[in-house]
Amino acid sequence: MGKTINIAIDGPSGAGKSTTARKIAEQLGFLYVDTGALYRSIGYFVLQQGKNPSERNDVVPLLDGLSVSFDYVGGEQRVYVNGEDVSDYIRTQPVSMAASDVSPFPEVRSFLFQTQRAIAEKENIVMDGRDVGTVILPDADLKIFLTASAEVRAKRRFLELSQKGIPCDYETILADVNQRDYNDSHRAASPLRKADDAVLFDNSAYDEETTVALITNLIKEKLTI
Ligand code: DC
Repeated sequence: MGKTINIAIDGPSGAGKSTTARKIAEQLGFLYVDTGALYRSIGYFVLQQGKNPSERNDVVPLLDGLSVSFDYVGGEQRVYVNGEDVSDYIRTQPVSMAASDVSPFPEVRSFLFQTQRAIAEKENIVMDGRDVGTVILPDADLKIFLTASAEVRAKRRFLELSQKGIPCDYETILADVNQRDYNDSHRAASPLRKADDAVLFDNSAYDEETTVALITNLIKEKLTI
């Protein structure tokens, strides 16, 4: 089998990475790999076991004998914990928090390392996450660091929640975005940072459609595909 094409998309929360990566993969006919779903699965499992996701001594022993895997059903990524499909349970707020709590532990990151690497060797992929270009796929064919200003990301989140009728406050959301950026970029294990050879793409001034179109063009141009 010939070498596969791997595209890495990293960046902070709220920059639109997953929607952008999914649409780009669709356009190129590649698989979209959502690495956040793997961290969410572990967060979900820790909660299910009645343990504390921010307590390393609670989390690390649970990794022993644990199996986290994923596959594709009708083109959609599904995630499994010990063989059980947990995809429908990992998008809740408590699981988001739990995923964020477990993700700084080096044992959790190395536990998921091979699962992420293996798919890149087998398939053409667009993989999104925080450390794809820096740690998981340092030899990716193209790396994109997708970001937007904290104010724009907070405004998008504010509009999204408001449209759903969820009461929220812009200043609180902005403080939360800034706090998460700080946590993500200051953790000891695989902090969020742009790989030296990644293309910086700030989509503060663009909507989703324009972001997807510009990045797809960039990929086609750089990879001549
Ligand atoms: O992208 P997401 O919101 O689904 O990610 C869930 C959590 O997992 C988030 O707090 C960051 C973390 N994560 C990570 O540390 N490394 C990745 N490659 C992907 C996600």
